[in-house]
Amino acid sequence: MGSAMASGAGAISSTLQEHRVFPAVAARELGFDSWHVSSLAEYKRLHKRSLEDPEGFWSSEARKLSWFAMWDRVLEWNAPDAKWFVGGKTNACYNCVDRHVQAGYGDEVALIWEGEPVGPRTSHVAPGSAYSKEPQVRTLTYRALQQEVSRFANVLKRLGVRKGDIVTIYMPMVPELAIAMLACARIGAAHSVIFGGFAPHAITERAMDAHSKVIITADGGWRRGEVVKLQVNVEEAVRSLANNGHIVNHVVVLRHTGHDAPSARFATGAGVEGAVATKMHWWHEELARVSDACPCESMDSEDMLFLLYTSGSTGKPKGIVHTTGGYLTFVQTTCKLTFNMQPGTGQVFWCSADIGWVTGHSYVLYGPLMNRVPTLLYEGAPNFPTMEGGKGDRFWEIIARHKVTQFYTAPTAIRTFMKWGDDLPARHDLSSLKILGTVGEPINPEAWIWYNQHIGGGRCPIVDTYWQTETGGHICTPLPGATPTKPGSCTMPMLGIDAAVVNEAGEELEANKGGLFVIRKPWPGMLRGVYGNRERFVSNYWGRVKDPATGMPYYFSADGARRDEDGYFWVQGRIDDVIKVSGHLLGTMEVESALVSHPAVAEAAVVGMPHDIKGNAICAFVTLRPNWLIAHKRAPDEALKKELAQHVAKEVGALARPDQVRFTESLPKTRSGKIMRRLLRDIAAGVEKITQDTTTLEDFSVVSRLRADEE
Ligand code: WTA
Repeated sequence: MGSAMASGAGAISSTLQEHRVFPAVAARELGFDSWHVSSLAEYKRLHKRSLEDPEGFWSSEARKLSWFAMWDRVLEWNAPDAKWFVGGKTNACYNCVDRHVQAGYGDEVALIWEGEPVGPRTSHVAPGSAYSKEPQVRTLTYRALQQEVSRFANVLKRLGVRKGDIVTIYMPMVPELAIAMLACARIGAAHSVIFGGFAPHAITERAMDAHSKVIITADGGWRRGEVVKLQVNVEEAVRSLANNGHIVNHVVVLRHTGHDAPSARFATGAGVEGAVATKMHWWHEELARVSDACPCESMDSEDMLFLLYTSGSTGKPKGIVHTTGGYLTFVQTTCKLTFNMQPGTGQVFWCSADIGWVTGHSYVLYGPLMNRVPTLLYEGAPNFPTMEGGKGDRFWEIIARHKVTQFYTAPTAIRTFMKWGDDLPARHDLSSLKILGTVGEPINPEAWIWYNQHIGGGRCPIVDTYWQTETGGHICTPLPGATPTKPGSCTMPMLGIDAAVVNEAGEELEANKGGLFVIRKPWPGMLRGVYGNRERFVSNYWGRVKDPATGMPYYFSADGARRDEDGYFWVQGRIDDVIKVSGHLLGTMEVESALVSHPAVAEAAVVGMPHDIKGNAICAFVTLRPNWLIAHKRAPDEALKKELAQHVAKEVGALARPDQVRFTESLPKTRSGKIMRRLLRDIAAGVEKITQDTTTLEDFSVVSRLRADEE
């Protein structure tokens, strides 16, 4: 196992040996009134207590939400099934919006949106695009949000959406995305948001799995001055769904980019071309038909709030199920503690993740809204308008313009900013910042230190938050004000989280020994299942490690980790067949199936390889079909490599495009026929040393024979 883990661990070469410890600072030094947890001793005391009495701890946290009816029981735990706040009734939208209006905060800002297009630097913009002169900014108060959400909730009802249905959402980062999600929650429908960077196939697969009858999208989204044609992708998906016998009843389209594509010229109520049973509706026309009064549905604590698909080791993505009461409690608490959220104190929170990923669900939408701290949404790229060399300073401009107090982003973004140079952030007033967060993959110390100095001005605590789609929220993170930080370590478990590094037998390992990252007790934000696939839920997460004393299953995150002599956790990366590319989780099988769907490809094996910016990049080893090459007069050349990489981008999405495609005569396999991924990973990692980008076929037969006995 040790060497399997090393593949993720060594992803980013670290030239700097960082042993510094950064002490927690006093709240006043940063202009906070106080910290929620203000010393390591206090954290340790609270953490200990939260593990001794998890039900007491979590019920006192849950009481900070508004409930329509209180629960009878805090927890029902029949491993691996947990039910939290059993019998309690509440509503997510009510907790994010209505309760603040009712408490007299209706005029406070709930959401700030900035669009990508700007005026003054339009020379960088594609000719003919419609741009405003100033950055487009829109703010919504809780009252405005309540009205918009209620109205859209009525639209959904009019289109037949009922409590318990699953609505698929495929939208750009616009306020209407938040509105659509909250509208679903308001009427008790679950949302299933698909990241706008995914290809039509992903929509088809997910909408089918979720039995979605309604899809919400937009005519397009902005990305570096280009329009991403979301509606066109949805139409393609709807057609292939219809061909597979799944009829989507309605597609609601937000007019956002207003580009003049033929597809954007439909009349509300028209059928989708090639799938006429599916009716198209303009968002604004539907809104005009309904009122803005819509009560919040009373939901059972364990009713599904949303589905979010994530990659696994098989080709098919997993629909992770999150429910209402537990998820809300966990996200409200973690968001408050990790970012020291204090409503009404002028905080502005910006998490730059797309809402299409779990970080966006928990920490763009639900967390800040529940905590009544304005949340900022930016639609677009950090390098738009684009400067020479592809650089950009848009993020720093946004932080200065909106006086952002807590900023949360990914290591891959930080490494990109580093590469663009220190002078770009230096041009902007970043003095409003108080806390910086990072998420998505291990952060290399160089990037951590740069973030600390050049964005945080050396004063802002950095919270390196380790968690997963499945965990709902942060499970290991420093608490600013309490936890001294070490660059590259996600430090200590969240309150109420019983984390450990264990061996296969479930025994906790001594300091600095690498092992499996597990959580030994249930927590409110944990996934409740994999939609429609009980077996996958049980075996993936609960089937590998048990409590050696009681035989009770532990939750295994599929990450390797170690804990140092101070009890700090160091996550080393995935030990299953998924890769983190620019912080996005991708299944190697998804990429492999995309490759073999190309007629030139006989077999493919995909592994991660270290990449300075992305953390990991995709390297694909491919065997070709000689007959196809002959018939099409093609050779295993650069052009074919490009074509295959492009094919993956088209099938899965641009984020899955391999950085390297390598042709080989055969794939190295064990005697039992398993592809030797470890060998391929080593080869991919040593890519510089081996003849780079050679078009000659690689022959692995010798090495595989040598290694066959090891696997
Ligand atoms: C990785 C993202 C190290 C990890 C919230 C995990 C991290 C996977 C960190 C989940 C971190 C996330 N340090 N590794 N701070 N945060 N990871 O589901 O491998 O997209 O298992 O959720 O990201 O990815 P997911």
